Amino acid sequence: MYILGIETSCDETAAAIVTEKKEVLAHVVFSQLEAHRKFGGVVPEIGARAHLEKIQDVIKQTLQQGSLAFDQLDAIAATCGPGLIGGVLVGAVTGKSIAAYLKKPFIAVNHLEAHALSVRLTEDVPFPYLLLLASGGHCQLIHVKDLGNYEVLSTTIDDAAGETFDKVARLLGFPYPGGPAVEQCALGGNAKRFPFPRPLLNKSGLDFSFSGLKTAVLRTVESFKGPLQEQDKKDIAASFQQAVSDVFVDRLSKALEAVPTVKDVVIAGGVGANQFLRHQLQTLVESKEKRFIAPPLKYCTDNGAMVAWAGLERFQQGHTDPLTFAPRPRWPLG
Ligand code: KG4
Ligand code: ZN
Repeated sequence: MYILGIETSCDETAAAIVTEKKEVLAHVVFSQLEAHRKFGGVVPEIGARAHLEKIQDVIKQTLQQGSLAFDQLDAIAATCGPGLIGGVLVGAVTGKSIAAYLKKPFIAVNHLEAHALSVRLTEDVPFPYLLLLASGGHCQLIHVKDLGNYEVLSTTIDDAAGETFDKVARLLGFPYPGGPAVEQCALGGNAKRFPFPRPLLNKSGLDFSFSGLKTAVLRTVESFKGPLQEQDKKDIAASFQQAVSDVFVDRLSKALEAVPTVKDVVIAGGVGANQFLRHQLQTLVESKEKRFIAPPLKYCTDNGAMVAWAGLERFQQGHTDPLTFAPRPRWPLG
């Protein structure tokens, strides 16, 4: 079975073809980075237009890469939320149009569910598992009990983790999206130089908070009263990254106490591409005698393969959606 997955909920126009044997026959991601860079973040209206301009090309390239014709597709899945609604509409309408023309089933995919299930495309991970979903728009701990059965254990009370990386990157003079640049910059830095706050650390509950940390980095940068030296940037990046890591480790270890029966812990979402964070989390999880699993980097950030896979898992359960399905800017997992 060949399923096409379409992703347009943020700043990546992406499509992929996946089979029920977990083969990824094609995987095309067009990043809108250049369009948004001068604004220092994603501009929804520019994003929606860029998706519209690019989507046909991306799907054509995907079919070419998979050496498939349209009529060989068995089902079409598209992200239908949550996300920037202009972009979501482009992907959803494109997916529905292809499904209508081919008279093939359509599956409306929840973007968060796609991130949550992405690990099952590349690894053998049975339900249930504990998921840390950390992306540009979300930071949540989720008990993935079964397909379609997600208990959101906690969320961020202010900024998302990726958003915080992006803001810190901007303060350090790196272009959007800043996560990879901050990670790179931190490599030669002293993580102990700046004692940034670890918001909510040692507090009860599992929620995240990053705005105090972001403000502390801002104050530190301002305290230099001039351009930062390279080593200062590195030390700020490393100290910041260490603070995020300490928060993640604290929250995750509390979550493991809350759901002691899970055997596997998964990280997903763009921030999950960060090798330093992965390593710290892996050490914690393995110290608790659980398995730590992270999808390959290309399936951590937004992509069509995770959408195709989530659609396929749903379809195999007998689930399809009508072409009248209305895209949703908000669509909580729980
Ligand atoms: O999952 P994603 O591609 O899109 C959303 O659904 O939001 O996540 C993008 C976010 C951005 O904020 C980006 O800066 C962050 O993930 N990110 C990283 C890294 N790579 C991407 N953050 C930290 N370290 C990285 N290596
Ligand atoms: Zn995402």
